[in-house]
Amino acid sequence: MIDQAATDFEAVHGARPSGVWAAPGRVNLIGEHTDYNDGFVLPIALPHSVKVAARRREDGRVRLYSAQGDGTITDLSLDGLTPGVVASWAGYPAGVFWAFAEAGHPVGGADLFFDSDVPTGAGLSSSAALECATAAALNDLYGLGLSAPELALLAQRAENAFVGVPCGAMDQMASACCTDGAALFLDTRTREQRHVPLDLAAAGLRLLVIDTRVKHDLGDGAYAALRAGCERAAELLGLDALRDLPPAGLTAAQECLPDDLARLVRHVATENRRVAETIEHLGGDRIAELGPILTAGHASLRDDFRVSCAETDLAVEAALAAGALGARMTGGGFGGSVIALVGATEADPVAAAVRSAFRSAGYADPVAFTAVPSPGARRVA
Ligand code: GLA
Repeated sequence: MIDQAATDFEAVHGARPSGVWAAPGRVNLIGEHTDYNDGFVLPIALPHSVKVAARRREDGRVRLYSAQGDGTITDLSLDGLTPGVVASWAGYPAGVFWAFAEAGHPVGGADLFFDSDVPTGAGLSSSAALECATAAALNDLYGLGLSAPELALLAQRAENAFVGVPCGAMDQMASACCTDGAALFLDTRTREQRHVPLDLAAAGLRLLVIDTRVKHDLGDGAYAALRAGCERAAELLGLDALRDLPPAGLTAAQECLPDDLARLVRHVATENRRVAETIEHLGGDRIAELGPILTAGHASLRDDFRVSCAETDLAVEAALAAGALGARMTGGGFGGSVIALVGATEADPVAAAVRSAFRSAGYADPVAFTAVPSPGARRVA
């Protein structure tokens, strides 16, 4: 796919690219809807990535082409980039150019050719991968010397302010900063990050990712509403962010909030604790015992945060019934993907059981694959 990207770049843009960069999608092991509450997350990068072949242009134009697009080049002027002007997939890379320029980084134009095997609309951060691949390419093309976390924050800024999605920093941090063989522990307030070794194979385990292939429209506005609800709850509790609620204060906090906000607070507080517990288990070589923590995380997203849906609930239930050690929805919710921790020989039977449950329920077949922790954004050619 890498050589192909360079060859295809030449066919579209009429010259060889200066290089090829790749940035992965992600699944989050635990720590969901905590990143915009200044909390903790623990994602891994997927082997699936967005590849981008790229070359500088000296005329201030940004020319974007995607192998998954409609066969046309989106041709933009760097000067004319403002939030709201670019619709469709091109808004993500265009937003990265805008974010770099807005932050004062001296970038000019470029020709880019994208090719991706990150499933889209599956809650696996294909858009963060698109942004981070663009950011990594721009960083090298223009010799900016920015660090991986700096690139991630510029990519997040593109998504927040240019595309208009009020996401936290997890997806871009995962795509930019993850390493092979490790999960990325991130404190989203201090930005402290640590690579936590995650050798599933050595523990006789696999991480199964089940893409339910449903995405409920509800998700778009609901994410912003949930974020606003969390911020309102923090304000009512006199906290800077829900991260600041001490564990001992949870009961009292719930009593003084209306039920719809108390539920959100309960999820965020217990989920931050589950991240800490997961880190302890990984440090103590007790990966196999993570199952119940993952499953408890799902129950919290389903019952308290209410971002699960019939398909993700069914995938979790069927995986557990077929012997998964633990399972949960991953990502923003309202559809998307489920992860299941399974014994090394159980991946196929568990995936088959979920498929069969989906057929019985009249749902389309889900797509399952096993994920190994993979590297973050990098130059590949
Ligand atoms: C989406 C957002 C992330 C994060 C997750 C939920 O993936 O982009 O910032 O909030 O949802 O954990």
